[in-house]
Amino acid sequence: AELMDVLFLCYMLCVVLCSRCRCPAHSNSFHGGMKMASSNIRYGEGVSREIGMDLQNLRAQNVCLMTDRNLSRLSPVKVVLESLTKNGVKYKLFDNVRVEPTDTSFKEAILFAKNDSFDVFVAVGGGSVIDTCKAANLYSCHPEADFLDFVNAPIGKGKPITGALKPLIAVPTTAGTGSETTGVAIFDYTPLKAKTGIASRAIRPTLGIVDPMHTLSMPERVTANSGFDVLCHALESYTALPYNQRSPCPPNPINRPAYQGSNPISDVWSRHALHVVAKYMKRAVRDPEDLEARSSMHLASVFAGIGFGNAGVHLCHGMSYPIAGNVKTHSAKGYSVEHPLVPHGLSVVLTSPAVFNFTAPMCPERHLEAAHILGADVRQLKRDDAGAVLADTLRQFLFDLQVEDGLGALGYSLDDIPALVKGTIPQERVTKLSPRGHTEEDLSQLFQASMKLY
Ligand SMILES: NC(=O)c1ccc[n+]([C@@H]2O[C@H](COP(=O)([O-])OP(=O)(O)OC[C@H]3O[C@@H](n4cnc5c(N)ncnc54)[C@H](O)[C@@H]3O)[C@@H](O)[C@H]2O)c1
Ligand SMILES: *[C@@H]1O[C@H](CO)[C@@H](O)[C@H](O)[C@H]1NC(C)=O
Ligand SMILES: *[C@@H]1O[C@H](CO)[C@@H](O)[C@H](O)[C@H]1NC(C)=O
Ligand SMILES: *[C@@H]1O[C@H](CO)[C@@H](O)[C@H](O)[C@H]1NC(C)=O
Ligand SMILES: [Fe+2]
Repeated sequence: AELMDVLFLCYMLCVVLCSRCRCPAHSNSFHGGMKMASSNIRYGEGVSREIGMDLQNLRAQNVCLMTDRNLSRLSPVKVVLESLTKNGVKYKLFDNVRVEPTDTSFKEAILFAKNDSFDVFVAVGGGSVIDTCKAANLYSCHPEADFLDFVNAPIGKGKPITGALKPLIAVPTTAGTGSETTGVAIFDYTPLKAKTGIASRAIRPTLGIVDPMHTLSMPERVTANSGFDVLCHALESYTALPYNQRSPCPPNPINRPAYQGSNPISDVWSRHALHVVAKYMKRAVRDPEDLEARSSMHLASVFAGIGFGNAGVHLCHGMSYPIAGNVKTHSAKGYSVEHPLVPHGLSVVLTSPAVFNFTAPMCPERHLEAAHILGADVRQLKRDDAGAVLADTLRQFLFDLQVEDGLGALGYSLDDIPALVKGTIPQERVTKLSPRGHTEEDLSQLFQASMKLY
């Protein structure tokens, strides 16, 4: 019996210690796990013509089809509608999705979904449409829930989603957010002037239909900005805090966040996406008819989506949410909107030179490798040069694609920095995946260094 007591004490001590320590011996059971969530993707020119049959196979009786007003007149929606009609699929169209959605625009889509009894959701559009459709599906299946219930803490309550949702088929038309692969829906929470979102594997689309023909109608700046989103998804997930250094360890696997930190499986997707961006992004932006380049970027957005969907993003995304939320007058060329707007990809990429210069000391090899993939000659360089060379490579990349010269060019000045920092603080869900810890003063300096790039 004494031996048992001693063993029990040792066991308890171990439980207590292991829940605190990060020693490698204990990391397997308490910090070391990761989970790969895979996505169903169908890819190829013309595959969206099959969607009517998919809906028949699902025995859909009443489909909720969501898009935005401009896209509703363009070929991606036409192709999908033709397929629905041809296969006798009954649907209702909601085409009032807001480009860069807000809590108000989400609620309008939710009301539309709640007012009917839809059995399948279909989203045809960019991240704005796909995210809105995820929220409409979620809340119409949880009619008793308050809007903030499932929104990320600390802005919302971050409750886990327990009930079943309807199938959602996403047809992405940008290249892009990768939203067809993720359980994330982002919106601008207007009371705080900052973006936040809902993050749960439960809202991930059941199928992504990735038809590169849809990207041919993207205006030049939509191609550029959505491509920068791919670039940052790849770079941030590849440099995120490693999964076995993230804490706290979830008490139960159901609590493990999708954003787990960089890990050996997400690395494959993120690194490959970066190669594709390096090879094809400039061609895709400059020539709308370059189907090879646009198809490749469409696939890269899926790859990067799977990478960041399982690893997470960090400072560029965390800092982008107040950059987008505090927009004053900047109007985005090529975006079919009347309201002032900083497109998501632009809000993310403008801080990238400063951010990767800041994070490089924590994992210089990965930063050097990223610079190398993006075309820099790193043979003579030392680990200490990693931040500067990746920052320079990114600045050159942005300059070549005629990106606005920093936050200053969007109308921000040094006076805005406190508000931008304040809006970054609640983005802990992503910023805590930064490989380098940071103070508010660090964030201030990163915003300041991003005011002017060239
Ligand atoms: N869920 C996620 O994982 C995730 C990840 C990153 C970003 N986001 C969110 O996604 C949104 C941005 O999405 P986006 O970059 O895909 O752009 P978007 O959906 O906002 O669309 C941008 C503009 O391009 C137009 N457009 C889209 N596809 C087109 C096409 N093929 N032809 C012509 N015009 C087209 C739209 O009408 C709109 O005017 C932001 O709200 C962002 O926060 C979500
Ligand atoms: C709700 O549905 C009814 C019947 O389908 C329709 O007439 C009405 O316009 C809908 N209301 C909203 C807000 O969508
Ligand atoms: C919609 O997009 C097209 C093509 O990208 C663009 O030319 C047009 O101006 C946009 N429509 C509106 C209403 O802004
Ligand atoms: C990179 O960091 C160094 C050291 O912190 C700093 O002096 C330099 O200005 C930074 N460069 C950029 C582009 O942010
Ligand atoms: Fe993004």
